[in-house]
This record gives sequence, C-alpha cells and structure tokens, in this order.
Amino acid sequence: MTQFTNMVTTTVPHDRAAELKAFDETKSGVQGLVNAGIQQVPRIFINQPETIPKSSTLFDFPVIDLASTDRASTVDNIRAASENLGFFQIVNHGIPVTVMHEMLQGVRRFHEQDLEIKKRFYTRDNTKTVVYNSNFDLYTSPAANWRDTFLSFMAPSPPPPEELPEVCRDIQIEYSNHVLKLGGLLFGLISEGLGLKQDYLGDMGCDKGLAFLGHCYPACPQPDLTMGTTKHTDAGFLTVLLQDQIGGLQILHQNQWIDVPPTPGALVINIGDLLQMITNDKLKSVEHRVLANVKGPRVSVACFFSTSLAASTKVYGPIKELVSDENPARYRETTAHDYMRYSFSKGLNGVPRLLHFKL
Ligand code: OGA
Ligand code: NI
Repeated sequence: MTQFTNMVTTTVPHDRAAELKAFDETKSGVQGLVNAGIQQVPRIFINQPETIPKSSTLFDFPVIDLASTDRASTVDNIRAASENLGFFQIVNHGIPVTVMHEMLQGVRRFHEQDLEIKKRFYTRDNTKTVVYNSNFDLYTSPAANWRDTFLSFMAPSPPPPEELPEVCRDIQIEYSNHVLKLGGLLFGLISEGLGLKQDYLGDMGCDKGLAFLGHCYPACPQPDLTMGTTKHTDAGFLTVLLQDQIGGLQILHQNQWIDVPPTPGALVINIGDLLQMITNDKLKSVEHRVLANVKGPRVSVACFFSTSLAASTKVYGPIKELVSDENPARYRETTAHDYMRYSFSKGLNGVPRLLHFKL
C-alpha cells in the first residue's frame, strides 16, 4: 500500500499553480515559511542553475565621495561609473547614518511584526497605499524568489501618514524625504556629466516620483537552490539602494558576477532602464541579482526614481542633445507610465525589457 501511494504521488505532475496559490493565501510570505521551521526550499522557489561565472578577481567597486569640493571630478567619476558599470556607491551623501540605521530597523520591524497586523497589508492590488506581498510576479515568473517586500509611492503625492505601517511610518517618511533631496543632487551631477545643464533631468521630471520598497530576504535553509532576487534591470530612471551588512547583491559586468560589497555609511546607486533610454544607451542599466543567504534576514530598501504608476501623458525618448545623424535615436518614445506597466507585467523573467522599445 505504501509502495502504491508513493508510486501515485511521484507520477502525479506537480500542480505549480495550486502551490503558488496556497503559498499566496497564507499571506505570510517567505518569512512565514521560515517561522514555521521549514528545512527544505519548496518546489515553487527552485530555479534553474545559473551558468554565468562569478568573477574570480577582486573588483574595485567605485565609491564616490559627494562631499568632495572638486565638483568636476565628482561629475566625471559618476559619468564613468554610469557608462561602464551602471552602478556605484556614494559616501558623504547627506543622509545621516542614524537615519539609515533606523530605516533598516524599520523595515526589519515591518517584516517581523505581529502576523495578524502584517497580513492586513498583504495584497496584489497596486492601487493600495501599502502593497505588501511575496514576489510581485509570483504568478508569472519561472521561479519564486526567497523574498518578501512592501511598497509605497512616496512622491509626487505622499500618502496619508496614518495609512503607512505604524512600525516604520515616521522613519519611512523621513528617509524618503532625504532620498528625494539626494535625487535632486544626483540628477544634477548626472545631467552635467552628459554635457547638459544641471537642472536638465530634473526639469524632465526624473527626480519627482519615488517608489519605496522595503525588502526582506529571510534566512534560507538551502540557498543554492533559489534566489533572493532573479537577475533583472531596474525599470525607473535611477535607484538608491540601502543594504545591510549581510551581502549577496551582485551585478553583471563583462559576463561575470561582481559583488557589491556592503559598505558602512554608503548607498548603492544604479542607472535604470528609463535613464538608459533617454540617454540613448550612453548610461547603462545593468543587470543585477541578490543571492539567497543562510545568515539572514537580510533587509534592504530600494528607492526607485520614476513617475508613479499613475497615468501621465508626458512622453520620454532619447534626449535631442544626445542624438545626432551619426548617433540616431535607438528607442521609440513612451510614457514612463506605459514603460513601468510593461515592465511590471513581464516580471523578473530574465529578458531585458528595454528591447521591446528599441527602434
Ligand atoms: C531591486 C533590487 C536589491 C537589494 O529592488 O530592484 O535589485 O539588495 N534590490 O535588495
Ligand atoms: Ni534591482
């Protein structure tokens, strides 16, 4: 009889859709699995092994000091990093370490809070002020990631504070205001690096919309079988990432994975798809991923500068000053709203989403 049951269970094809739904309906995310003491990664999280090697040489990841009085060098260092790596770290950026620390603690508190309170935020309805779920692309991606996230749009229309999670709302508002200010500075430096006037990208609206994502990558019993975040590029103009000390973020450079080393006091900055598009491929939106880890929870805050998902008629395409007869526009125009919607609908499937907009 036992033999018979075993035979039946091994020949019944596994119902992935039902397993995804069952996981989603717990409304407890990956954190819920870990709290339940799970020792094996469920099938829905198992992903195809990666073939790209990790870089064997030590890589000198650029760290740019924003307090430097040599503005021309700062502009040039940011330009070079944005063209080559698509990523850099910044220090002396004006956000106090106490604020950064409290922000990470706030995200940790959100994910570790009382389950009944946290569950009230669990949704896939993106019109909600706070969208907490596990894997925004759970039903469309080839494999689920070992990650839970909550998201809110903090600009251009900040949500009513009382609708934000009580355990972190004050710091979320304070941190987001700092990031918005920093964005103004960074877009100024990037504009100059492109040979444009300082407020060019700001005037285009690149620094006006901010999506706040509070990620949690719980400790994983079998980190080699799954991923914290599948390889992807960021869809917006620019991302400001705050990561804790656990590590696991890697970027793809010359077909090798390179670690982005956790650096106390530093923020990680990367170019997003929309900035690559409007600069006609001068600046690079580079693929990156997060490994699952055994030591977690790892927490991070990703702030995406982009317009909100709200409809807008403003169209973006390659900037006129950056195209010429020799370097014609490589992308068709689109609204940021349509780009974000397209990108969101595709989820993290490993396919560069900018390709869809190539001329
Ligand atoms: C992202 C991302 C990296 C991290 O949110 O797009 O790449 O370290 N996050 O959480
Ligand atoms: Ni990303």
